Amino acid sequence: MEIRKLGLAQCAFAVMAILVSSLYAQGPSNASQRPGPKVSVAGHTYTQQELFQHNVGTPEDQNTQFPPHKIIGNVYYVGTASLASFLIVTPQGNILINSTYERDVPVIQKSVEQLGFKFSDIKVLLGSHAHADHMEGDALVKQLTGAQVMATAEDVPLLEQMKPAGKAHPIDKALHDGDQVTLGGTTLVAHLTPGHTPGCTTWTLKAQDGGKTYDVMIIGSLGVNPGMKLVNNVANPQIVEEFTRAFQVSRSLPCDVPLGSHPGMYNMKEKYAKLQAGASNPYIDPAGCKTELDIDEAMFHAVLEQQQAALSTASPVINPPAKATTSGATVSGGPASAPAAGGRQSALIAKGKERFQAYKCYDCHGENGEGTPDAPDLTHSKLTAEQVSKFLVKPSADAQNKGMPDVPADSPDHQPLVAYVMSLRGK
Ligand code: HEC
Ligand SMILES: [Zn+2]
Repeated sequence: MEIRKLGLAQCAFAVMAILVSSLYAQGPSNASQRPGPKVSVAGHTYTQQELFQHNVGTPEDQNTQFPPHKIIGNVYYVGTASLASFLIVTPQGNILINSTYERDVPVIQKSVEQLGFKFSDIKVLLGSHAHADHMEGDALVKQLTGAQVMATAEDVPLLEQMKPAGKAHPIDKALHDGDQVTLGGTTLVAHLTPGHTPGCTTWTLKAQDGGKTYDVMIIGSLGVNPGMKLVNNVANPQIVEEFTRAFQVSRSLPCDVPLGSHPGMYNMKEKYAKLQAGASNPYIDPAGCKTELDIDEAMFHAVLEQQQAALSTASPVINPPAKATTSGATVSGGPASAPAAGGRQSALIAKGKERFQAYKCYDCHGENGEGTPDAPDLTHSKLTAEQVSKFLVKPSADAQNKGMPDVPADSPDHQPLVAYVMSLRGK
C-alpha cells in the first residue's frame, strides 16, 4: 500500500522530546529483568516495563468486565479493563474485533447482551494480532456464534499454534494488507503493521455520528514487549524493518478516533469518565492518534539503541552457533570412539552448557536456567526430553515472538542443548 505523509511523520518525530536513560545500560546478561530504557513523551515518562504494564494491566484487569458502552456511531466497547474488544453493529449482523483470552469470552458475551445485542448476531470475527490476550478465544467465539473467522495471513503460523485446551484455531479466511471486510454497509480495512507480530493488523473504518463521518483507527500494537529481541532476532531477522514500516503506515492513516488492542493505548478510562460526565464525545481525539505512535516509536528507538549498545560491549561469544551441515548429516562420534556412557552424557551436558551460552539462552532463561519475568524457570520444567527436543525445533508462538531461536533436530547443537536443559532439573 501507498505510504503518505512520510516526510511529515519524520519531522514530527525529530522534534519530539526523547529522553533515553543510561541508568539501565548494564551488561548483556539478565537483560530482560531490567526495567528497560526510559522515554519521555508529551509529559509522561515510562520505562519499557512500565509501558508494557500500563497496557496489559494486572491479571484482575485482564479478566474484569469494563462497562460496555458506545464509543462512536456503530462502534461499541465490549472488552475487559485492559483487553480491548470492539463490536461493530450493522443491519446485517455484527463484527467482533478481538476475542481476547478464552476465559474472557463469557465477559464479552455478557457485555454484548447488556448493550442489547445478540451474541449469535456476530457474523465476522477479526483480531489485532496473534497473541493469546487478543485472539485465544477465537475457537470458542466461533463455536458460540458460528462467525466467520478472518486472520491476517502473516499471523496464521502463530495462530495455528494457539490451541486453548487443544482446540484447533479456526481460520476461515486469510486476509492481506489492504483487504476490506464489508458487512451491512460498514467497511473495515486491514493495514499490515508488523513487528509486534508478523501479521499485526491496524483496522480502520468510518463511523457516522451526529451527521458527521469520523475515521476510526484501531491500533494493532506497536509495542516492543520486554524480552523482545530487535537485534540478532534469529526467529525474525526482519523485525526492525517491520516495526519501521508499521510506524510509517500508522502515521499515514486518517484518524479522528484512536482505539487500540489495549485500552491503555487510548486512555479509555479517562475518556469513559468524561463520557459519563456528559462531555462532547471524548473519543474524538485526533491528537491522541499521534501521541500513542510517538510513545511507541520513541520506545522502539530507545530499545534498539540499548540492544545495539549491549551487543557492542558484550563479551565475545565463544563460538557462533554451529550450523547443521547442508547434507543433513550430524557430526558426532560413532560408538567406537565414544567414551563410556556416563562420560558421554556429561560431555554432552558440558557441550550443551557451552551452546546455551553461545545462543544466549540465558538472556531470557537466566544464568542457570532459573527463569526471568520473560521466560520460564527451566529447573522446574515438567517437559520430558522428547518434549524439550520438540520445543527446540519449534518453540511456542510466545517464545518465538520474544525471540527464542529454534534449533533444528539435525543441528549438532540440538542433542547437547536437550541434555543440558534436562540436567538443570532441581538445580
Ligand atoms: C528471547 C527469549 C528467549 C530465548 C533467547 C530463549 N528462550 Fe526458551 N523460552 C522463552 C519463552 C518466552 C518460553 C515460554 C514459552 C511458552 O510458555 O509458551 C520459553 C520456553 C522454553 C522451554 C520450554 C520450557 C517449559 O517447561 O515449557 C525450553 C525447554 C526452552 N525455552 C529452552 C531454551 C533454550 C535451550 C534456549 C537457547 C537455545 C532458549 N530457550 C532461548 C524465551 C526464550
Ligand atoms: Zn501482543
